[in-house]
Amino acid sequence: MTRLIVSSIPPQTKTQRVKVKRRWTFAGPDILGYLFKMCKRSLGNIATAAVVISILSLVIILNYTENIPRGIVQRKKPDIRQVPNGPYLGARSFIQKVTKTMVSQHTKTTLSPELMAITPQPELDRLINASSKAKYPVTIKGKYIFENPQLCSSVANLSVLIIVHTAPDHFEMRLAIRRTWANDTYYRKMGVARVLFLLGKVGDSALQMKMEAEFNEYRDMLQGDFRDSYRNLTHKGVMGYKWITERCRNAKFILKTDDDIVVNMFILLTRVIPKLENKTKQIVCQHVRANTMPIIRDKNNPWTNKWYVSENHFRGKHSYPEYCSGFMVLLTNDVIPAIFRAATMTPFFWVDDVYLYGLAPSHVPGIKYSSLTEPILIWQNALSCYRNMTDNLSNKCDYLVTGSKDLRVSEETWVEMIKQFEHRIGADLRFPEKTHPDMRT
Ligand SMILES: *[C@@H]1O[C@H](CO)[C@@H](O)[C@H](O)[C@H]1NC(C)=O
Ligand SMILES: *[C@@H]1O[C@H](CO)[C@@H](O)[C@H](O)[C@H]1NC(C)=O
Ligand SMILES: *[C@@H]1O[C@H](CO)[C@@H](O)[C@H](O)[C@H]1NC(C)=O
Ligand SMILES: *[C@@H]1O[C@H](CO)[C@@H](O)[C@H](O)[C@H]1NC(C)=O
Ligand SMILES: *[C@@H]1O[C@H](CO)[C@@H](O)[C@H](O)[C@H]1NC(C)=O
Ligand SMILES: *[C@@H]1O[C@H](CO)[C@@H](O)[C@H](O)[C@H]1NC(C)=O
Ligand SMILES: *[C@@H]1O[C@H](CO)[C@@H](O)[C@H](O)[C@H]1NC(C)=O
Repeated sequence: MTRLIVSSIPPQTKTQRVKVKRRWTFAGPDILGYLFKMCKRSLGNIATAAVVISILSLVIILNYTENIPRGIVQRKKPDIRQVPNGPYLGARSFIQKVTKTMVSQHTKTTLSPELMAITPQPELDRLINASSKAKYPVTIKGKYIFENPQLCSSVANLSVLIIVHTAPDHFEMRLAIRRTWANDTYYRKMGVARVLFLLGKVGDSALQMKMEAEFNEYRDMLQGDFRDSYRNLTHKGVMGYKWITERCRNAKFILKTDDDIVVNMFILLTRVIPKLENKTKQIVCQHVRANTMPIIRDKNNPWTNKWYVSENHFRGKHSYPEYCSGFMVLLTNDVIPAIFRAATMTPFFWVDDVYLYGLAPSHVPGIKYSSLTEPILIWQNALSCYRNMTDNLSNKCDYLVTGSKDLRVSEETWVEMIKQFEHRIGADLRFPEKTHPDMRT
């Protein structure tokens, strides 16, 4: 409920309201700009947004908390694995024919000298002002506790390596991701994908044993030698850069997400990735422009002190340089070794999105940010929005990325995404483009 009330509220209140719920647009305050963009994008302009938001707020205040659970109970829980063999077989074989060419085959990435010509930025050293005991991320030289070195190299034509920042005890969330959107059996002809879950160390040996059992079963996890905690997420991300540099040169794209995110891989593979086909040095994300995201300096505000940064860091600055919201970041793999190398000269800063998608890449010459042009929906009625579209194709619901902490909601959202894509291909087969403008980009 609170997340929808975003327009014309004094800044402090805005931040407070937003803070109540979400972890996953992690660099905190940026959720505002993000929601705002989302509204603008899906509703056309701010005025409409304001009106719709007030209505939605009311509806949601009255209805929302009961709505989604009820929906789940009423619907028979779908057997996800059966969906692909469902009533859309004709469309499916069509997909398999056409989409073969949608993602071009992997070409070996070589590191251009230009890309590797990374120079330290002394002024950044001063700004970050890392503590002397661990100036750089510990994962630059850290060992792995477990890894599968063949995860990428054993795969031909690997289009996308999905990197998921996950918490050690989120077993069910990882299972849900494996079963649903990261499982390329649903879209293999459009692109081959693999998933890698990034983890740190835990104190509890029973938990560690459970994680190792999971690793032995799925071989898609990477555990580093650093404590898994919120303020260590930068170490986690740098470990990902390191591992990709060492072990995964054959993936064309790297897609970074969190474990409560659902990516519509059909949209990613048919609309986002094809646009990047011949491009290099790209970061596509929810871009946060320089000097738009305030640095939280008030450590007594209970709503925002999670992101508190003392004056010893970014002294004299009120806002961060450019970076990306980390819930979904797509990178061409060519830049990863360069960013990893840049991390060896970028002093540790714990706000992971700022470090991983801002400070470190800022060293890489020619790196290019672009914002996601596909709509995104991060509130929790993504599921009902998708269901509405399944029920009636005139209801547009066409989002690249959504998310939920409730894994049943995530799983069912994926089922709707599958149905929607199959409808779309069906419509493509039967009608000329003009008759279905709402189904197009
Ligand atoms: C990889 O792509 C090549 C070239 O299109 C194709 O010949 C080959 O069969 C593909 N390999 C796999 C395992 O899909
Ligand atoms: C991926 O989906 C296929 C069926 O589409 C299923 O057989 C397989 O077990 C799934 N993989 C995982 C890890 O759940
Ligand atoms: C981060 O990890 C390092 C290395 O394991 C550890 O020394 C440090 O205490 C951790 N920091 C936090 C905030 O957990
Ligand atoms: C990418 O390059 C290939 C070969 O040069 C060309 O055929 C193709 O049209 C290009 N794709 C895009 C999207 O520019
Ligand atoms: C850097 O941090 C130290 C404390 O660790 C502090 O004494 C010093 O003033 C800081 N320097 C700047 C430029 O903020
Ligand atoms: C879905 O449709 C129902 C009834 O048609 C409507 O009340 C509801 O607001 C719609 N939900 C979304 C998210 O569009
Ligand atoms: C689908 O929605 C459109 C627009 O709201 C409406 O005109 C149409 O009757 C609906 N179709 C069905 C089958 O409900």
